[in-house]
Amino acid sequence: MSKVELTIVLAAGEGTRMKSKTAKVLHSIAGRSIIENVLTAVEPLNPKSLSVVVGAHRQEVEAHLQQIAPKAKAIFQENRNGTGGAVQLALAEHNGDGAVLILAGDTPLLTSKTLSEFVEAHITSKNSASVLTALLPDPTGYGRIVRGENNTVAKIVEQRDANELEIEIDEINTGVYIFDLSQLREVISKLQSNNSQKELYLTDVIGLITNSGKKVSAVLSNDYTETLGINDRSQLAECAALMQDRINHQHMLNGVTILDPTTTWIDANVKIESDVVIYPGSAISGNSIIASGAVIGPRTTLVNCEVAADATVLESFATDSKVGKSAKVGPYSYLRAGTVLAEEAKIGAYVETKNSTIGKGSKVPHLSYVGDAQIGEGSNIGAATIFVNYDGENKHQTKVGNQVRIGSDTMLVAPVSIGDGAYTAAGSVINEDVPAGAIGIGRARQTNILGWVLRKRKGSKSADAAKNAGASE
Ligand code: UD1
Ligand code: MG
Repeated sequence: MSKVELTIVLAAGEGTRMKSKTAKVLHSIAGRSIIENVLTAVEPLNPKSLSVVVGAHRQEVEAHLQQIAPKAKAIFQENRNGTGGAVQLALAEHNGDGAVLILAGDTPLLTSKTLSEFVEAHITSKNSASVLTALLPDPTGYGRIVRGENNTVAKIVEQRDANELEIEIDEINTGVYIFDLSQLREVISKLQSNNSQKELYLTDVIGLITNSGKKVSAVLSNDYTETLGINDRSQLAECAALMQDRINHQHMLNGVTILDPTTTWIDANVKIESDVVIYPGSAISGNSIIASGAVIGPRTTLVNCEVAADATVLESFATDSKVGKSAKVGPYSYLRAGTVLAEEAKIGAYVETKNSTIGKGSKVPHLSYVGDAQIGEGSNIGAATIFVNYDGENKHQTKVGNQVRIGSDTMLVAPVSIGDGAYTAAGSVINEDVPAGAIGIGRARQTNILGWVLRKRKGSKSADAAKNAGASE
């Protein structure tokens, strides 16, 4: 049985201070939107219903909610008349009694642990409402908790409306509350906008409840960093760094070596096995999975990649690719979407790959482009080979068999196929299939014009050198 009947996430605000075309709650932290981080923390509490109040950038936020939390009910707040107004709308669309958990969509560092401890503390207190509070080194901007008798809460005062004494209080309102639904319904209709922002403040509900003789508890959070809200880009960076710390710390406890956690950025959804080593300046994002023994970095970016055991990816950028067991990538390789390296394959310096499979033990060591190719096992692609996959209108496939040797600077003009065990001569333009075991040669025969330099570049350093070597006109 869920202890929470309804959760309301407030996300209708303009986010003006972000100065962005993107809705505030859609900015990302550790590869998830701010609001997804909030909903991820709420999820294990398993509330019977989940409502999200949306307003500014409504369409984008609703479309995003469809993807990340299809069960959430979006409630449109057309007139942004304050947090109290937002909650009034959400309550109007919900029947049922029990506990309602309310939180803001812009506090992405809250954890499920803190939220469930908060719920437990509320239940134990048997009070009508509870507020999660925090002691901040700098409480500026937050609502202050004015304590009453027996440590209960008398009221919450917003910074702008606080008097001289109240402004000195360093215990703040985190914006996370639990109310008894029937109790909240009773008082929320009484909210008035006689404050400095002319808004309906949800925080005023606390004073209304205590005035009716009921008790409100304050539950002090152990870790104030969890309760930080994002209102501008500086707070976005601060929260991202705190999340980075948290994620890296967890991976290190799980047995991952991270040489420089301050320059290592790992998204929340990334999975990393023990005994992976990550060198400085690396970013692993999306749904990447890194298997045991792999070595990543330095300065490597992996987006939605799978790296198998004992593989190495050094100074490279890879997206939507798979790197096989004990395969080697880099330095300075660019693996684009659809690259699949089999076991022990190698992609070397200044090589770009796309939508290609490189078979077991095959190597593309230097300065090449491999696009739309299927390369078999044990083949070697010589330096500066280009898979010419695009005729200006369409992309075409190239097939390279097993144990093939492609000579340096070969152009493989697709569609073309190189049979098992075949060779191509260096510098060839190959636009016809090469059968198994053959060598394809596609280049002009070389002609040497003797004495040319001595005749045409008389007196040059080259002519002198040639003369000294015994050359004559
Ligand atoms: C609010 C609290 C403050 C608390 C702080 C914690 C009020 C009046 N004040 O202030 O006591 O310390 O959070 O972070 O509640 N929203 C709506 N509709 C609206 C207005 C806001 O959905 O009409 C949403 C916003 O999108 C946001 C949340 O409510 O996610 C809080 O609003 P915000 O304007 O950020 O309030 P704060 O000034 O941070
Ligand atoms: Mg806020």
